[in-house]
Amino acid sequence: MSVESWIAEQKNRLIEDLVTFLRFPSISAQPAHRADLHRTAQWLRVQLEALGFTVSLLGDPPVVYGRYDGPTGAPTVLFYGHYDVQPPDPLEAWTSPPFEPRLTDEAIYARGATDDKGQVFAHLAAWRYLQQQEGRLPVSLHVVIEGQEETGSEVLYEVLAGQGQAWRSDAVLVSDTAFFSEEVPTLTVGLRGLLYTEIRVRGPARDLHSGTLGGVVENPALALARILVALKGPDGRIRVPGFYDRVRPPDAQERALWRSLPACESYYLELTGAPELAGEVGFSPLERVSVRPTLDVNGLWSGYTGPGSKTIIPAEAAAKVSMRLVPNQDPERIWEAFAAYVREVAPPGVTVEVERLHPPAPPFETPTDSPFYKAAEEALRVAWGKAPIPLREGGSIPVLSALSKAAGGPVILMGFGLPTDALHSPNEHFRWRQLWGAVKALTYWYKRVGSLPK
Ligand code: BES
Ligand code: ZN
Repeated sequence: MSVESWIAEQKNRLIEDLVTFLRFPSISAQPAHRADLHRTAQWLRVQLEALGFTVSLLGDPPVVYGRYDGPTGAPTVLFYGHYDVQPPDPLEAWTSPPFEPRLTDEAIYARGATDDKGQVFAHLAAWRYLQQQEGRLPVSLHVVIEGQEETGSEVLYEVLAGQGQAWRSDAVLVSDTAFFSEEVPTLTVGLRGLLYTEIRVRGPARDLHSGTLGGVVENPALALARILVALKGPDGRIRVPGFYDRVRPPDAQERALWRSLPACESYYLELTGAPELAGEVGFSPLERVSVRPTLDVNGLWSGYTGPGSKTIIPAEAAAKVSMRLVPNQDPERIWEAFAAYVREVAPPGVTVEVERLHPPAPPFETPTDSPFYKAAEEALRVAWGKAPIPLREGGSIPVLSALSKAAGGPVILMGFGLPTDALHSPNEHFRWRQLWGAVKALTYWYKRVGSLPK
């Protein structure tokens, strides 16, 4: 049976299973959801066992590991994905609750729908099809689905360190990225790295009456504001000394490809809903979201933020500040320069602490000359009717370098999201066309790779 007919026949059952997967509030950032991470991992274990995998749960929150011994002589693929999701807030901005999936004709709405549960599910579906149709999977597999991707993959790094040669593979396959657009199938060939920090500024020992004591102490909120303002100029350039030292300029071939894409100003205005675009002068929006490094404030708090007024000088202020890094920037060097600079620009009268919130993600690039990449090009051509383009993405997947090293093979970033999926935002969704197309493309890829000489 063709994969299209199989999908048509199995659709209700597949959707039911995807809905179950999406109902787990597996939010890795929030300690209160630890048990939900375990429940999600258990569910995945059951799914994989039903598909013939030998499964173990490693660490806490568990890395779900599944092993499948394919036909002798067939290549080994390491599949990587994540079952954790970003916090869903602000909840009031969702049109339906984030963990009660809503189905429309076009898409399925839920936190994790595209990032990454929906995409992981496309692989489960492809394996189910292959098992049912051919009685076995065409390749050997190490399946690694972690519960901490959205918070830096600490447990998986530890698990990886203990694996030695056990996860050697011919290629790593990941579906946690996006197409350029619905009409432009895309293979991701690079991701930015990430350095995530928190800055805490402390002033008086407690919140003070801003009248009786206003005028004799530095205000931590203002001090923090001065620090933040010092990080980036009005030209969008990051002011941390040495920040751009090693940034590699894009090559001519890449620039030519970008010029052919409809990534104009209005495209980003629509995608963001911002009144105007901003960013580093001298670079196009597409360059600014892919090959240029950036710095952002992800969260900022201090003092009284409830209704009405309260007259205080807050005792402290804090901000979460992250930097996206590009090839050849070294996260360690940037971290040291950043921390030193924050201390240097802090005004007197407060104490400042700078901390990293998780292991830094190094910038990542992957080759396009392997037979596994060629198979991905073919798979997308088969499922979408046109050849994919290679594109760098601005997001990060921390463990890819480490995984590629452990596997000893190239990483194929064949993701099926869309820039309009609202990942990390309210009303995240995954379009059915992308999901079913993914199942078709992945089925093709696994079969094609199964026939490659080892
Ligand atoms: N799936 C994303 C990364 C991504 C999104 C790549 C869109 C390409 C296109 C991933 O789950 C993610 O969000 N990663 C985090 C990692 C971080 C918290 C260490 C990110 O990029 O913010
Ligand atoms: Zn994400």
